[in-house]
Amino acid sequence: MNIPGNCQIRICSEQDSFSDLVESCAGKDWSRVFLLVDSNTRRHCLPLVGQMEWLGAARVIGMQAGEDHKNLETCVSIWNQLSEAGAGRDALLINLGGGVVCDTGGFAASAYKRGIPFINIPTSLLAMVDAALGGKVGVDHMHLKNQIGLFSVPRCVVINPVFLGTLPEEHLDSGYAEVLKHGLIADAEYWEHWKDRRPAALREWEVLIRGSVEIKERIVRMDPYESGPRKALNFGHTFGHAIESLWLSKTGNPLHHGRAVAAGMICETWLSHQKAGLPAEELEGIVTVLHREFQPVPLHGDDLDRLLILMDQDKKNRGGEVRFTLIRRIGSCETDRTCHRSLVAESFEYYLKLKGNA
Ligand SMILES: NC(=O)c1ccc[n+]([C@@H]2O[C@H](COP(=O)([O-])OP(=O)(O)OC[C@H]3O[C@@H](n4cnc5c(N)ncnc54)[C@H](O)[C@@H]3O)[C@@H](O)[C@H]2O)c1
Ligand SMILES: [Zn+2]
Repeated sequence: MNIPGNCQIRICSEQDSFSDLVESCAGKDWSRVFLLVDSNTRRHCLPLVGQMEWLGAARVIGMQAGEDHKNLETCVSIWNQLSEAGAGRDALLINLGGGVVCDTGGFAASAYKRGIPFINIPTSLLAMVDAALGGKVGVDHMHLKNQIGLFSVPRCVVINPVFLGTLPEEHLDSGYAEVLKHGLIADAEYWEHWKDRRPAALREWEVLIRGSVEIKERIVRMDPYESGPRKALNFGHTFGHAIESLWLSKTGNPLHHGRAVAAGMICETWLSHQKAGLPAEELEGIVTVLHREFQPVPLHGDDLDRLLILMDQDKKNRGGEVRFTLIRRIGSCETDRTCHRSLVAESFEYYLKLKGNA
């Protein structure tokens, strides 16, 4: 069975040939190869992949960039193009892009003719350390994120940090929030190593990505279908997702995921101190880093009621209680911790009182 966490993941180092790596992972026995790109990865990333000789006459399928296009309409367009080209079940789809391309392409491939193989070549940091891994694919529907989707594992994931060279800074931040989250929930040494510095050279990016991939894969292998330990990966996201939705409805503009998750991690770190015994000095250390590394979200006290409603609607909650992943110490966490609304409200006040917020 194709279980999430059982997927071959290769990280390309400077001395590797990227083309050989992709070819050896993907195999060659495909009747046709299709490459899904968005408007940005077509421009910045396709040239590097397009040079691969073995891809030969791969056909490029384009989609518009951005979360707004992670939907069924885009899938229909992909299915139309696969059908028109006569793609059979022995065709391969390569997703070349960020989380939006990997999620959409993975879903489109998994539903086409009851599933054709796909591989992910993630090009954003968030996709390299998170979205391309773990076997969740899907699209948004009726303004709800990832409403239609399934667990489906790529044949392989090939990561090349070189793509980060053209990734805009704010998208790099989104991936960095997940990197720090991985350290906080599972690996104190990793947190300690990366909390005060970002990689300067490709070799360092490779090390950082490798560490994050190992943490995510270890957690996914323990609990492929998210019934228990995998919920650890939601740290910062109960608040974070509510903040993203609130921001979108208030301003009409999406908030960068990293900023929302960093704000969420600050609130949930405070909750961890109150409910999970996280020592005061660790609370302070974590908040200092997150507050410094990510631009604060200008929220106000009267946003609280709406945030609580949004958190109540979180699909991970059961029985009307808000559940959180909390950290006991840096590098270890507990899932499914319920918190009283008054404590949740206090954690939000704590965030608002940090210097520079609100
Ligand atoms: N399946 C999962 O387990 C999982 C986990 C986390 C997030 N996600 C999903 O991932 C998505 C977010 O991913 P994302 O942050 O990568 O967003 P994204 O795919 O929209 O990429 C961000 C932006 O960067 C551009 N881009 C990507 N790579 C580039 C490069 N190398 N050079 C220049 N531009 C580049 C994209 O075109 C886009 O404009 C969300 O839809 C989220 O739900 C999925
Ligand atoms: Zn996230």
